Amino acid sequence: MTESPRTAIVTGSARGIGAAIAKRLASDGLAVAILDLDESACSVVRDEITNAGGKAIAIGVDVSDEERVEKAVTRVAEEIGKPSVLVNNAGITRDNLLFKMTTSDWDSVMNVHLRGSFLMSRATQRYMTESGWGRIVNLSSTSALGNRGQANYSAAKAGIQGFTKTLAIELGKYGVTVNAIAPGFIETDMTADTAKRMGIDFEDFKKGAARQIPVGRVGQPEDIAAVVSFFAREDSSFVSGQVIYVAGGPYA
Ligand SMILES: NC(=O)c1ccc[n+]([C@@H]2O[C@H](COP(=O)([O-])OP(=O)(O)OC[C@H]3O[C@@H](n4cnc5c(N)ncnc54)[C@H](O)[C@@H]3O)[C@@H](O)[C@H]2O)c1
Repeated sequence: MTESPRTAIVTGSARGIGAAIAKRLASDGLAVAILDLDESACSVVRDEITNAGGKAIAIGVDVSDEERVEKAVTRVAEEIGKPSVLVNNAGITRDNLLFKMTTSDWDSVMNVHLRGSFLMSRATQRYMTESGWGRIVNLSSTSALGNRGQANYSAAKAGIQGFTKTLAIELGKYGVTVNAIAPGFIETDMTADTAKRMGIDFEDFKKGAARQIPVGRVGQPEDIAAVVSFFAREDSSFVSGQVIYVAGGPYA
């Protein structure tokens, strides 16, 4: 065991899946940096962690902003410890059929998911490779396999899988593993917003989704956090470059 706790950065962790991941890693004993667009929104999760006896910091940052990403990662290293776990979770959707999709819908989604994961990974890898230990977990999606109305999101989430496999090859010899989780339907604001946009009541939307899922229910943020916890463990060091579908059934 190391003397001081390891430090994790979770992007997009003011709510939803990211918040559950941050809380799970904190309960696993890691110091956690809560990164999201708005610092005050992050402070709710930070306070929950610190009130439970954990160590956490809240930082407002847009993951697609190179300069702010560098500053945020330096701040994490200085204030709660050099990052050894990174979870690239921040995400947005800008769904539309191809003929209606604007260039800005395309660019926004690429910027948050791909540019954001690239900038965050590049800024944190130096701490991981120097110490000879690290874990990067990227959030993909079942939409990587194709989903109507999500040409931008699907391309970004498939891109995340290639990014994951390449980083696993490059960073393996430094003790850094890189894996991806591809969630199916998870109950969060993101899926609630999708229901709203489609004009469907969220409860009906969830029931409809659950009928298509072999385990007979939609996922919860904690279902994803449990898998991140596994990837961040000391004894998962021989698992790298993998994409695990956490979707209540075989979707790959
Ligand atoms: N909910 C699902 O069903 C589902 C399924 C598959 C994959 N995912 C992926 O899981 C991740 C989390 O999704 P969620 O459902 O919790 O979404 P969410 O919308 O509830 O939360 C996403 C968070 O990311 C933050 N964020 C957005 N843009 C950002 C930026 N540029 N910089 C920093 N933070 C930013 C948001 O402010 C928000 O707090 C996303 O990558 C999403 O694509 C979700």
